[in-house]
Amino acid sequence: MKTAIVGLGNIGAQLAKNLTAGGEKILIADRDISKAERLAAQLGAKATAMSIGEAIKQADVVIFAIYFDVMKDLIAEYHSALAGKIVVDPSNAIAPDGKGRFKKTIPADQSSGRLIAALLSEGAEFVKALGTLSAQSLGTGVNRPPERAVLFYATDYPEARRAVAKLIVTSGFSPVSVGGVNPYILKSSVIFTSSVNSASSFQLKEPRRSSNFRVQLFSRRY
Ligand SMILES: NC(=O)c1ccc[n+]([C@@H]2O[C@H](COP(=O)([O-])OP(=O)(O)OC[C@H]3O[C@@H](n4cnc5c(N)ncnc54)[C@H](OP(=O)(O)O)[C@@H]3O)[C@@H](O)[C@H]2O)c1
Repeated sequence: MKTAIVGLGNIGAQLAKNLTAGGEKILIADRDISKAERLAAQLGAKATAMSIGEAIKQADVVIFAIYFDVMKDLIAEYHSALAGKIVVDPSNAIAPDGKGRFKKTIPADQSSGRLIAALLSEGAEFVKALGTLSAQSLGTGVNRPPERAVLFYATDYPEARRAVAKLIVTSGFSPVSVGGVNPYILKSSVIFTSSVNSASSFQLKEPRRSSNFRVQLFSRRY
């Protein structure tokens, strides 16, 4: 399967580094193609730079490492080209609230994943993934010994689940499925208040704290 990363900012560039370091061949694209070419030159033969349109056309898996509102625009622009693709959304529809915390940029009772999934073409397979750690933790947590750090993901599609789990492993993390997008996100959300946790110490049933992580489940959409 060919994977494209669209958007080479903090998250996109770090994902590109982690995936190529793990041996994955990837297509990388940014609205500024020279930015993609510069990164490809750093990453070596595993990364190929191209336009956003060409990357979407060639890829089986498209990771949109861009902001929520930009993703809505790009999905509209490339709607038919995305038919039949696995579309990975790492975005968090949040912004600083001016009080040192974050607030949702969409209504509290709406799920950003469901909003994006609803915009996709028939046959596109939506996955919410790769956005549960900061870009910095994606860099420092890669291949962490003795246990790999976890990246959570949610999707309703078995093939997409396998493809994204494989990419997470290749990128140096441990994949943990939280189920499908619809039923899971309606019931709960996972908020990461610290950076990196491991699969063996993670429990989905209740909030848990340790020296390096805290996971809380809330009964609201995220
Ligand atoms: N940063 C984190 O720690 C983190 C953690 C979890 C999830 N996320 C999510 O990951 C996504 C990316 O965050 P980031 O921190 O990587 O952002 P970023 O560093 O600002 O990068 C955003 C990327 O989107 C591109 N872009 C902006 N407007 C565009 C447009 N109209 N058309 C095409 N491309 C456009 C930018 O291109 P230019 O370079 O040309 O401006 C850049 O490549 C966001 O949805 C964020 O919520 C981020």
